[in-house]
Amino acid sequence: MVAKRTITFSDGKKIPAVGWGSGSGGFIGSGQRAVDAGVIALKEGILHIDTAQIYKTEEETAESIRLSGIPREKIWVTTKLWKIDATTPELIRESVEGSIKRLGTIPDLLLIHNPYIPEAGKLGAFWTILEELVYDGTLKGCSLGFSNFRTQDVAEVLKVARIKPVANQVEFHPFLWAQLEPLQKFQAEHGIVFQSYGPLTPLLRHPTGGSLKAVVEKIAEKRGIEPSTVLLLWTVQKNVVAITTSNNPERIAKLAQIDSLPDLSAEEIAAIDEAGKKVHFRHYTEHMEADFPAPNLPADA
Ligand SMILES: NC(=O)c1ccc[n+]([C@@H]2O[C@H](COP(=O)([O-])OP(=O)(O)OC[C@H]3O[C@@H](n4cnc5c(N)ncnc54)[C@H](OP(=O)(O)O)[C@@H]3O)[C@@H](O)[C@H]2O)c1
Repeated sequence: MVAKRTITFSDGKKIPAVGWGSGSGGFIGSGQRAVDAGVIALKEGILHIDTAQIYKTEEETAESIRLSGIPREKIWVTTKLWKIDATTPELIRESVEGSIKRLGTIPDLLLIHNPYIPEAGKLGAFWTILEELVYDGTLKGCSLGFSNFRTQDVAEVLKVARIKPVANQVEFHPFLWAQLEPLQKFQAEHGIVFQSYGPLTPLLRHPTGGSLKAVVEKIAEKRGIEPSTVLLLWTVQKNVVAITTSNNPERIAKLAQIDSLPDLSAEEIAAIDEAGKKVHFRHYTEHMEADFPAPNLPADA
């Protein structure tokens, strides 16, 4: 089993374009529930698990991999670092080693979960310490990135980076496209790709779905697929890794099928762009709300 749809990072690694996350859908700290759904996702062929220290699902990720019977090297594992008391090599090492121990493996990708994880003004210093852990073998073969970083946070890391960040995981969907397109262009100049969380927000969490809903439903009907699948295809065709989740075996199977579906046409992508860009709507409002210019758009249209 290998993922057919992949996104290539600047360090040459290929990440499966659709990932199954354990940081929503009631999986945080859920123990066996997260293990069981993770096994289903892996066995269906979603060979990419997104976890984090704060989700308390790193041990469950390890258990899902073990129970799936799929060799570790065929699976992509991302984890994320949570708040550390001080930006010292010792405390960061301890935090990283804790994740490696719980995962039973070095992750493929390690993200700084938020720009406020290091102390204020210490993003660069924090990055440099993570790089040392790659150089000394603690994080052998692990790519580095971040999550919920605004332009100024990305620039802060780029100032010092010897190991280039490969990814920025943010809430990403058509209702944020107007705000995120400029950041995507800036990141592309530096080889950084977006990973999308909350990709289904326009259909699941926005009060009406705006005019986008009808556009997505029409494409779904024509192609005989789910509207949510249309949004996920749109995401990966933007060269963005789609991190979704489900506890529903039928839905997990449909997510796995995305791998073998044909691409949306350029016209379909353009129609989604156009409808998406009429609205600015963010679900995860604790992130990227401050000091990050939002377009002057209504929250519904
Ligand atoms: N870096 C960060 O700060 C950050 C923040 C948030 C999330 N994340 C990561 O991203 C992952 C996915 O986030 P997300 O949950 O926001 O992604 P999402 O893809 O927008 O939503 C997935 C949720 O939608 C539900 N769903 C899917 N299809 C549905 C349908 N047709 N009808 C009703 N419900 C449906 C699923 O529930 P069912 O179980 O019912 O299918 C699941 O709980 C998280 O688990 C986490 O790993 C990262």
